[in-house]
This record gives sequence, C-alpha cells and structure tokens, in this order.
Amino acid sequence: MEHPGTVAVLGSANLDIVVPVPHHPVTGETVMGGDHALVPGGKGANQAVAAARLGATVYFVGRVGSDDAATTLRWSLEAAGVDTTFLRSDKGAPSGIALIGVDAAGDNAIVVSPGANGRVGPDDVSAAETVIRDATVLLVQLEVPMEAVVAAARVATGTVILNPAPASPLSDDLLALVDVLVPNSIELAQLVGAEPTSDVDEVAAQARSLPVERVVVTMGAAGALLVTPDGHLLVPAPTIQPVDTTGAGDSFCGAMAEALARGVELGTAVERAVHAGAVTATRPGAQPAMPSTVDLEASMAGLAGTL
Ligand code: RIB
Repeated sequence: MEHPGTVAVLGSANLDIVVPVPHHPVTGETVMGGDHALVPGGKGANQAVAAARLGATVYFVGRVGSDDAATTLRWSLEAAGVDTTFLRSDKGAPSGIALIGVDAAGDNAIVVSPGANGRVGPDDVSAAETVIRDATVLLVQLEVPMEAVVAAARVATGTVILNPAPASPLSDDLLALVDVLVPNSIELAQLVGAEPTSDVDEVAAQARSLPVERVVVTMGAAGALLVTPDGHLLVPAPTIQPVDTTGAGDSFCGAMAEALARGVELGTAVERAVHAGAVTATRPGAQPAMPSTVDLEASMAGLAGTL
C-alpha cells in the first residue's frame, strides 16, 4: 500500500569508521581497539533510511563529496528506497566521516569531520523547495549549517521536527518554526543551560521552558518523555541487551517522522519510535541497524530477538 505522506530530510551523510574499544580514551590516551568497519551513517541519512525502511516516501537533501565514500553513502540511501535527487555531489570537499568508538556496553564516542555536509546551504533548500514545501513532515538535525536548517523550516508547510543534535544554540526564529523538538536529555539540558538529569519531572520542566509546545525527550534505556501542554508522559523502552547504540536516536526520529506522516497521533508515534530505537541498539552500525516494519512490530509485540 502506498504511504499516504512524504518525509523530507535535510541533513548529513557520513561514512562511519567504527572501532570496538575496551573503553573510550581520555585526553592523551591511546586505546587499542578491534578491527574497524566502514558503515553508512550521518544523522540525516540515518533518519532518512529509518523512515524509508518503515515504508515512508522519503526525500534526502544534502551533500556528499565526489569520492568512494560518496558512492557508498548514495547507494545506502537508494537501497533503502530514499529519493536522492537532491543529494548533491560536491567536488569542493570530501564526504563527511565519523570516527566512532563503541565499547563493550554498546556506548559510543563520536568525532565528526563534516566535509561536504558543512557546505549544505540555502541553495540546496532552494533546489529542493518543492519537495520540502510539500512534505507532510520535514525532519532536520544540526550536522549541517544552521542557515540551511532555518531556510528549510521556513519553506516547510507540513510538520517540522527538529532533532537538535549535536546540541547548538537555537534562535527563537527557528524554534517558532518547529512543531516537535526531539532532543536527548543531555541536549535538552545544554539547550536550556541546566544540569542533565534523569528525573522525569525535572526533564519535563526543562522542556517546558522552551517555546515549543511539543517536546519529545529521548532518555536512553528509560524510553522517551512526551511533553505537551496537556502534561507529560514517560513512554518506556523495552528491555534489551545493547550491542551498539549508534543511530538509535536517529532510528527514533525516523520512525516518529514516518508515523506522523501517516497521520498517527503523537503518543502512538512516540511508542513506535521508542521500539525502533531499541531495535537499532541491538544491532551493530547505524543504517544497517534500522528496523523494518516487521522488526518494529515484533518488538512492539514483545517478540524482540525471536525473528
Ligand atoms: O547519530 C549517529 C551518527 O552520528 C553516526 O552515524 C555518525 O555519522 C554521526 O553523525
């Protein structure tokens, strides 16, 4: 059945160089890791793949270089069914890469070299204006320049979801254009200038101090906190054994965008998103770890790990 809505994603694509590590290095320390893997990633591309795997019609707007990594990144998006008409090959910069250490608990530490992602601008938004304007959902993050994010949000007429990752100061102009803000609890604390906390009431109070009516705060293994003018609700995550949490937040955002584009109400969309993120954390890598609809429904039915 054709998906009733479309999702436009403006954002980054990175080739992830992933190394298993016994622990993350501190400043000045060298840590010996295991064999590396090259995996398609980048918050924007991960979110686009996540939404497409769940059946949405997805357009990706961004830039890669003109190198081998670009070929891999474009292929991964297209293999998931993402439309790459507005993914530009930029001869002026290498493709973005991310250096990712993953420890035995599945937790990561990431360094991003943006490359071509750093050259995404309002001209990319103009080129894709029709699909951004007509999309049921526009999904943006902060691994591309802020001017491009603001330009896209200005053009959009559908639901605008902002995943403020990595955290960066947000103008009131941008926040006024955002329908649903999806930070994790650390990003939220940074945005409001407070201490990170896992106390649900405090997280809700932090979210309410922002001028966005609907805030969904991802809280790792605890799930996600939905904060609206009507109150707040913790949507719990299923219990899992994490293998690699890379891309779990992106899976969450992509699944939420897919559901909202289908007309699903926000609480149910968050429930699906929590399960999508959990499934992703049980698998290595970013884009290869994004669940299909079958995987997601198995998790929601409590059948995770049985497929
Ligand atoms: O959110 C995970 C992503 O962050 C990785 O795929 C990496 O590329 C960085 O952008």
